[in-house]
Amino acid sequence: MCGIIGAVTGEKVNQILIDGLKKLEYRGYDSAGVTLLDGSGLELYKYAHLNQSIEKLSVMPQVNDSMAAIGLAHTRWATHGVPNDLNAHPHLDCSGKLAIVHNGIIENFRELKEMLKDSGHEFISNTDSEVIAHLIEENLSLIKSEGSGADEFLRAFSMTLKALLGTFAVAVISSEYPDTILVGKNMSPVVVGLGNMGNFISSDVSAILEHAEKFVYLQDLQIAAVTKSSLKIYDFDLSGIEFAATPVTWSYKDAQKAGYETFMLKEIHEEPYAFTETLLGRSTDKLELYFDEIHFDPHELADIRKIFLVGCGTSYHSAMVAKYAIEHWARIPVELDIASEFRYRDPVLDSTTLVVGITQSGETIDTLAALNFARKSRAKVLCVTNVVGSTVTNNVDAVMFTRAGPEISVAATKSYVAQLAVLLGFSIALGRFSGVLFKSEADRYFADLQNCASMMEIALGRETSYRKLAEKFKDTRDFFFIGRHMGYPTSLEAALKLKEISYLHAEGYPAGELKHGPIAVLDSNTTVIGIATKNKLYEKLLSNLEEVRSRNARVVVVANDSDNSVSNYFDDIFYVPDTFDLFSPVVDIIPLQFLAYELAVRHNNDVDKPRNLAKTVTVE
Ligand code: AGP
Repeated sequence: MCGIIGAVTGEKVNQILIDGLKKLEYRGYDSAGVTLLDGSGLELYKYAHLNQSIEKLSVMPQVNDSMAAIGLAHTRWATHGVPNDLNAHPHLDCSGKLAIVHNGIIENFRELKEMLKDSGHEFISNTDSEVIAHLIEENLSLIKSEGSGADEFLRAFSMTLKALLGTFAVAVISSEYPDTILVGKNMSPVVVGLGNMGNFISSDVSAILEHAEKFVYLQDLQIAAVTKSSLKIYDFDLSGIEFAATPVTWSYKDAQKAGYETFMLKEIHEEPYAFTETLLGRSTDKLELYFDEIHFDPHELADIRKIFLVGCGTSYHSAMVAKYAIEHWARIPVELDIASEFRYRDPVLDSTTLVVGITQSGETIDTLAALNFARKSRAKVLCVTNVVGSTVTNNVDAVMFTRAGPEISVAATKSYVAQLAVLLGFSIALGRFSGVLFKSEADRYFADLQNCASMMEIALGRETSYRKLAEKFKDTRDFFFIGRHMGYPTSLEAALKLKEISYLHAEGYPAGELKHGPIAVLDSNTTVIGIATKNKLYEKLLSNLEEVRSRNARVVVVANDSDNSVSNYFDDIFYVPDTFDLFSPVVDIIPLQFLAYELAVRHNNDVDKPRNLAKTVTVE
């Protein structure tokens, strides 16, 4: 996710903005920029030098010598448009009089861009964000031409925000209105800081913590007009809104984690947002809406006879979910491969095969090698990644981006659900494309998929009860996670999470396989966690759990809220909201992430940086 900072004071703001950028660095970024407004107009400096852009800005004489008392700055995490200097923020309008910074995704940017181009606007970047600057310019000139004077900047800004679909935090400054920062939001965070020397805005309180005494968190569909000595808040129709500013007692380190104990906990709580962002602008009828930057002509997919899904670790688990979904909805055969095995096993590939590599980082060597091999074998190659501009995007025929934002904790959480979002959405769209699904069916599935974000919110609201139940197992050293159908990938992912951060022994198993060997291991020291949410093998899973119980293992289940009978059989239950069975992995994993988390904390482990692990594995 991008980071925004703005400052309007009675003094120079250059150092405040550069320091703010440095404070946002921990989130990860691919480019950074700053705009400073003084008597001679807007100055704009921006760079896409991986991990060096902020350093570069901080030593620029033009930035250091600036006397500007108002400015905006931005760290970019690309979603639309590769990381390069032109795509970095801030973005200007045609006149160069106004500059914007944006965090989020503008779903309808293509339509807006076409409309603005028709009106004569010229674009210099490939971003979705640049439309915002031009649209404010367009609306401003409309308001001015009507001669309706007062509050024209604010009115043009609110008109613009009302026309945007998607998620956004947008801030703007203009040389025509040189004492005001306007900022508005929908879903992406904005905090306004009120200080003695001036006022500040940011997407992350850590960037402005040291300059402000009191803070106001802007709500969705609100606009703040910020000057050095005043703050006014409005709704998008420009009715004034009462607000209360409150102090924040967090340290800088706490603020980075938005008050959460760890990045992992923060990232688990970001899951609904990552999920929703990833589905924005995508639908059932247009397969091309799934591709970013590098595109297939969907017709090329008409010849596909087989799909291979490859990935490592958590990405492999989302591939497994996608296999079930694609075969069910699109009726195309799918093979699933661990990336490190794929190219060594002589898979049969040709131009009628599609190989999909799934990798959060886009840098995992095994996945890169698997996709290179697939390309050399003339297969069509698609990657799913969270990092725009990552290595994997250089050698593929098409790219689908997840939009989870930077994931700092080694254990993947929000990137997993974002992968599920794009892969499940793609599976439905593929079903439609292959003519298996009717439009009405596909639309209904897609709406249900989008609705999973609300189910995830409900599950996250149960954090305390999940962690309390998890505490009961603090002395257990051996865990089995078992599931059937969509419960199987969840059991693998839950076991991986537990292993990674708690260092306890955990196995994920398809429940039906247990009696073919592993059941011999079970005794009263083992805890078996059954993924018992409703799917077509629910009854069979309950029988498998009975087999387990008769070996004296302790049994815990994940079950749906609507399951009235499960409490007759089991004492320890992680309840989750009901979902359509193919979507259940999205929600069912949440209590199990908290289980892993709680046990890791109980064992005093470094949750964000578990021993022996790297976030990205770049060696074979
Ligand atoms: C997940 O919690 C792990 N950190 C790990 O298994 C990870 O999913 C795997 O290394 C693949 O990484 P990638 O998605 O960046 O390729």
